Amino acid sequence: MTTMAPMPDRFLRACRRQPVDRTPLWIMRQAGRYLPEYRALRSQHDFLTVCRTPELAAEVTLQPLRRFPLDAAILFSDILVPLEGLGVKMTFSPGPTLAEPLRTRAQVDALALRPAAEVVPYVGEAVRLLRRELDGRAPLIGFCGAPFTLAAYLVEGRGKEGFSAVKVLRYRDPGTLERLLEKLAAAMIDYLTFQIQSGAQAVQIFDSWAGILGPDEYRRFALPHVRAIVDGVRPLGVPVIYFVNASPHLIEAAASAGADVLGLCWRTPLDQAAARVGDGVALQGNLDPHVLFADPAAIRAEAHGVLDRMAGRAGHIMNLGHGIMPDTPIAGVEALVAAVHDHRGTGHATAPGQELQPCTT
Ligand code: CP3
Repeated sequence: MTTMAPMPDRFLRACRRQPVDRTPLWIMRQAGRYLPEYRALRSQHDFLTVCRTPELAAEVTLQPLRRFPLDAAILFSDILVPLEGLGVKMTFSPGPTLAEPLRTRAQVDALALRPAAEVVPYVGEAVRLLRRELDGRAPLIGFCGAPFTLAAYLVEGRGKEGFSAVKVLRYRDPGTLERLLEKLAAAMIDYLTFQIQSGAQAVQIFDSWAGILGPDEYRRFALPHVRAIVDGVRPLGVPVIYFVNASPHLIEAAASAGADVLGLCWRTPLDQAAARVGDGVALQGNLDPHVLFADPAAIRAEAHGVLDRMAGRAGHIMNLGHGIMPDTPIAGVEALVAAVHDHRGTGHATAPGQELQPCTT
């Protein structure tokens, strides 16, 4: 049996492609509806109230860490929450619906750019509370939506497979879409800066809908704005993860955004992605979330399949290839955690000039 030396910075080290004793694991959407304790809390409070109340947001953030020995916590909120500060009104049931879709130049010009510290002070308070509660046991990840993904929701007015309204706007009035994307990028730089200054130790940019763009469209409408965010927060010195979903056709371009870590969906085997992007970026992912519905032996085999593909490469963070599904069995998550902990041969890669961490067996 492998003895697991405590290594609370395993996740941050892997983000920086430094050697670790084993591959770190966290799970996208790890706080959420698959947890009975989350459902119990949500039966008392609606979703936005949880996001806006620092004690509740902190409690929900900690729920998955109490159950599973995960290597990072992610702040509980939603990618659309900071948009309220721009003047966007929305409800969640469970996905977001906007009071009014945003489609005209006048609507885009009317979006107010106010400091995150003023419009979502409760996010900063939740981050501060969590840093005290976590007390160095696990690092805290902050996050935001990528401008194109946020625009897809704003222009459509709700979540919808394919998001065609944002693509209609791109051809009908590209200048208005570009103005919207610029405003969102500026707002997200300020929002991530606020989270980092409040104590977030890494940040993830979620580009859940970039995959609806072809490569040239992605390079014009999505990539420059992600790059602006990465460049904007780089001086603050925390690792930046860029998760891009449904994007086998965008991997090289997405890596050029300059994030420390590229998070990938389950569609591309990670060794193939690694060969395409080279050694300059860590990779995160990418087990298909459906795997967690299998029996423990099958989950172990699938998880080890992902880890084996990355064995010997510095800079891998184990995760799903998209968010965990609301009806996932708890036993599936337990099997994943066990599989990552008992895997041999990962996390030992050395980058030039770096010492190898001892692995006690
Ligand atoms: O645990 C965590 O990862 C932190 C919390 C978190 C939520 N949303 C909570 C949530 C994070 C990081 C997000 C990001 C988010 N929100 C994304 C990017 C990730 C992805 O899945 O692609 C997107 C596209 C959204 C928009 C959104 N919010 C959708 C599509 C939905 C529908 C329900 C769902 O779970 O997919 C939401 C609502 C939402 N956000 C819930 C949760 C726990 C469910 C709301 C409820 O409790 O009723």
